[in-house]
Amino acid sequence: MTQVATEHHAAAATPSGTCYKVTMWESGALSTAQLDAWQEARRELLARMRDAGIKGARGTLTHLGEELRELSTRAVVAPLDTCALSQQPFTRVGALAAKLQREEQVLAYRLTPCTATVLVELSGEEGIDTLVSRWCTCTPEIIWHPTPLVEAISAAEAAEWQESCRQAEAAVAPEADTNADAEAAPEFHHVTVLREEAVAALQPAEGRVLVDATLGGGGHTELMLQGGATVWGIDQDPAARQAARKRLAAYADRLHIVAGNFRNAAELLKAQGVQQVDGLLADIGISSPQVDQAERGFSFLAEGPLDMRMNPAAPRSAADIVNTAAESELADILWQYGEERASRAIARRIVQERAKAPITTTTQLAAIIAAVLPRKGKQHPATRSFQALRIAVNDELGALDALLESGLSMLKSGGRFAIITFHSLEDRAVKRYFDRVTRPEIDRPEWPAPRPNPEYAARLVTRKPIMASEAELAANPRARSAKLRVIEKL
Ligand SMILES: C[S@@+](CC[C@H](N)C(=O)[O-])C[C@H]1O[C@@H](n2cnc3c(N)ncnc32)[C@H](O)[C@@H]1O
Repeated sequence: MTQVATEHHAAAATPSGTCYKVTMWESGALSTAQLDAWQEARRELLARMRDAGIKGARGTLTHLGEELRELSTRAVVAPLDTCALSQQPFTRVGALAAKLQREEQVLAYRLTPCTATVLVELSGEEGIDTLVSRWCTCTPEIIWHPTPLVEAISAAEAAEWQESCRQAEAAVAPEADTNADAEAAPEFHHVTVLREEAVAALQPAEGRVLVDATLGGGGHTELMLQGGATVWGIDQDPAARQAARKRLAAYADRLHIVAGNFRNAAELLKAQGVQQVDGLLADIGISSPQVDQAERGFSFLAEGPLDMRMNPAAPRSAADIVNTAAESELADILWQYGEERASRAIARRIVQERAKAPITTTTQLAAIIAAVLPRKGKQHPATRSFQALRIAVNDELGALDALLESGLSMLKSGGRFAIITFHSLEDRAVKRYFDRVTRPEIDRPEWPAPRPNPEYAARLVTRKPIMASEAELAANPRARSAKLRVIEKL
């Protein structure tokens, strides 16, 4: 299958007044019947709005305005989201992306192989029609549907949409993986944790489609492929994707590697025409090569740039946070994500030191922390602070929450959702979420009796988390803190 993705872009300008969201689609992406039904319902709503306007019925007008929006979402935007009409790569709309980036009025856009959604704030003489006809002209090989969907939205809604584009843009690595890259991939040594247990939970077999949301070096994926499954492997780190592509070259016909952040897994899969799958695994956290390569900046033991980005194209590195965040924000990061008791003292010292010279390397930061917190016992004093910064740089808990919230929607009935975590903050989030969706009923002290849980959608496959066996621990002490939890969609 051709590798396709969704391209996002958000400009720096912030919306200030009414904006327009223009949705264009390739002719044929929506059927004539779908379009006719939409137009008819739209005409009827517009006629009712006209009547309400004449009567000055403001409440009715607002209500009908909302109905009109819901109609557009239901009849146009949602079907386009699931449309996999054209599996052509982005080169086709590359010219459009280049044009949109130069347009002053364009605040953000999202392109898929058969749709373009553009956020515009008009300025000057040009109207939407002029802009749209210019965009169509620069993609002569695409026959766009002649009437795009144009929705007026407030500055606040526009800012929200622009931010979602910004996040998606940051999440998707820009480079395309190729087999040539795979050939050149350096050695990648990562010992897979709970390999058999996690893969067995997803029951790989011929004809089953599984997602490995944290492909890494491909340890879990390899076992899924050996079991006969087709696998979609997601990773935000280009080095991991290259390594997995090389290691699993023999399974190229059943392995599809996708660049991106698993927080957008549902969207990334939809862009590839994949709606629902039989199982999804996430082995949260970093891989050993990420820590071991000094130039990635994760380790306080080796001199390297203070980076820590799993996706090297992400906007904020550890150095950015350390050199620009307010002292209170730094202290909060160290406390919340590292449970570092000396968070305030360390944050204060960082701010004092960065006033003298920027903090740019791992060992420089480690020395600053060690000066505040002398070594006690075996653990290096910078351990907790480095963990905290890594979690903040990669927004690891935010990504996990987004994956949890969207995971079940990607699964068929009976599909399995398995997550391996390595520290209590992550495990707590998984445990809470799994508990939320597996309780048939909920109860509150103020209620006379328990009530059905509206979120009930899955069953626990194992009541307690699965942990590494003695044999695995002997071979890989890193597995000590790993916990695997699994649920099955009802
Ligand atoms: C623990 S490793 C996975 C190892 C893999 N299971 C194996 O056996 O080789 C975690 C991987 O997930 C990736 N990763 C972590 N957070 C991610 C996210 N939010 N989106 C996409 N990939 C992520 C990391 O880049 C890393 O390669």
